[in-house]
Amino acid sequence: MNEAHRFLRSRRSVRRFTSQPVARDTLFCILETATYAPSAHHRQHWRFVVLETSEAKTRLADAMGAEFERDLTDDGLNLADVHAQVARSRNRILGAPVAIVLCFDSSAGDDYADETRQRAEWLMGAQSVALAGLQFLQAVHAEDLGGVWTCGPLFAPEAVRRALKIPSRWEPQALILIGHPAQIPAPRPRKPVEEVTVFL
Ligand SMILES: Cc1cc2nc3c(=O)[nH]c(=O)nc-3n(C[C@H](O)[C@H](O)[C@H](O)COP(=O)(O)O)c2cc1C
Repeated sequence: MNEAHRFLRSRRSVRRFTSQPVARDTLFCILETATYAPSAHHRQHWRFVVLETSEAKTRLADAMGAEFERDLTDDGLNLADVHAQVARSRNRILGAPVAIVLCFDSSAGDDYADETRQRAEWLMGAQSVALAGLQFLQAVHAEDLGGVWTCGPLFAPEAVRRALKIPSRWEPQALILIGHPAQIPAPRPRKPVEEVTVFL
């Protein structure tokens, strides 16, 4: 295995960060590398909303927290567990030096009259955004920083959009938290290639 493979395999989802800030030029370079991801028709459907201030992160945490609390309460969870889970999610956002809402500009794709092609076009755009997300995480890793992809915004897209004044055609897909790692988790085992692959 060469160095590049070793590097790609050594990325971890880092969920604990030190309070050391992430330099703006480093962050800019990471964002630029993310934009080198491939995209359907090269439409570059990704949009990044970067939250560096605690004021912005608090706005997001409050908005997502209210939705999360409502969902967990509707699920019938007891109040103490609801509050514990909401607090954990909030602390994770506020504990990260930088939070990035990864969005999908669905207006970047083509429009079709039929549902099948329209759905395929939407999916192509969402796939392109996910590729930029992975490229972003690998670029974070290349800077010896850590990051984690979290999916909260998918469950509260309107609340996220409203809280951050994101344009209505930008669909929040993920929240990526980054910073200097306080703890790097052990590698999680992977299914063997033989189990997830068919060679024909
Ligand atoms: C679409 C997606 C959603 C994820 N959502 C979360 C999340 O909400 N919270 C979290 O802590 N990690 C989340 N993760 C990170 C995964 O838990 C992690 O990638 C997986 O456990 C493998 O660990 P590794 O990234 O360190 O190899 C998500 C990853 C993906 C790709």
